[in-house]
Amino acid sequence: MSFEFTKEELEYIEELSQRYPSPKALMLPLLWIIQNRLKHIPTEAFKAVADITKTSEAQVYGVVTFYTMFTLKPTAKYHIQLCKTLSCNLCGSKELLNLLKERFNLLPNQQNGDFQLTLVECLGSCGTAPVVQINNRLYENLTPAKLQKILEDFS
Ligand code: FES
Repeated sequence: MSFEFTKEELEYIEELSQRYPSPKALMLPLLWIIQNRLKHIPTEAFKAVADITKTSEAQVYGVVTFYTMFTLKPTAKYHIQLCKTLSCNLCGSKELLNLLKERFNLLPNQQNGDFQLTLVECLGSCGTAPVVQINNRLYENLTPAKLQKILEDFS
């Protein structure tokens, strides 16, 4: 399998390149383009990213595996990222995890039907802990009851 940016994506990348100080700074936007289109970053895309950013495929791999918002395998329809860091932990993320395990049969790094659970570090919204990100949307001030309603609405 090979990977190529589409014509529209290349035009957008060209536009973006005017706003960034160096090709290397385009790394995250390029990875977002791929992740949004394919729901993951296939290793076949590393060369295309490395060529544009003037980096190596190893550097691309390093960035992809550093950030939890990028995945090497396709994600489920609903990718639930539960923050496990201090503020969320103190404000109830363990109760949210218990709900996901017991009610939705979801374990960390596993998929169940349309849902997939990943435990992540701080999502940058500590003041509204506990938080969960589902795909690109952040849900704040959660309780198990609120999270259950959100997930049942997806079903
Ligand atoms: S600790 Fe959860 S968002 Fe910061």
